[in-house]
Amino acid sequence: MEPTRLSMPIGEAMWTQRSIRRLRPDPIPDDDVRLILEAANKAPNGGNVQWTRYLVLTDPAVIRTFGALYKEAWWAKRRDGEGWTKPEDIPPGAKVARSAMRLADEIGAAPLIVFVLAQDPGPANSVITCAQNLMLAARALGIGSVPTTLHPQVMERFHAMFNIPANVSFHFCIPMGYPRGNFGPVNRKPVEDSTHWNAW
Ligand SMILES: Cc1cc2nc3c(=O)[nH]c(=O)nc-3n(C[C@H](O)[C@H](O)[C@H](O)COP(=O)(O)O)c2cc1C
Repeated sequence: MEPTRLSMPIGEAMWTQRSIRRLRPDPIPDDDVRLILEAANKAPNGGNVQWTRYLVLTDPAVIRTFGALYKEAWWAKRRDGEGWTKPEDIPPGAKVARSAMRLADEIGAAPLIVFVLAQDPGPANSVITCAQNLMLAARALGIGSVPTTLHPQVMERFHAMFNIPANVSFHFCIPMGYPRGNFGPVNRKPVEDSTHWNAW
């Protein structure tokens, strides 16, 4: 598959690839899904062993069923992390958490979910590169995404739900779709705050 349709300037893609959590239900063309996966597959990885595996959900009924598990996992993370167990516990100013909570409510209506997994189980740092390629390629096609995780509480049921072998480990759940909002800009601290030169 030729990458010519991924012609958005790389700077524009990187500068505007903020998390998109409000997704339109419109299906994503098969060719675009395929191209996004091809882009992910090109990522660097240790020794070119290529541990990454993708499990792609496009069936609305399957996505809806998974949505309930995702919501349970999201709240389990909040319970363990911040001690929040219900929407009223989340401070009004906690914008990311509120947006993520809404995604937990709505993910069951996403048109596409890609699980980024590793066989045998491969190291995370060889899988993360694939996930970023995947999201940048999606951005170039006007498709929004957000990397998310699950919680140990649901992992056994997650494996059972999709028949995933025990030697395949989970890294990311990436819901994708055309945005209901806008892309970018990405908001980060200045490079001066994160970078040291020649020594710490
Ligand atoms: C390892 C990892 C886990 C994340 N988990 C979640 C999640 O469970 N739910 C969610 O909505 N966003 C999740 N995110 C997205 C981050 O919240 C987001 O990237 C961050 O707030 C920066 O915002 P931006 O992507 O809009 O620039 C995760 C991102 C990473 C890298």
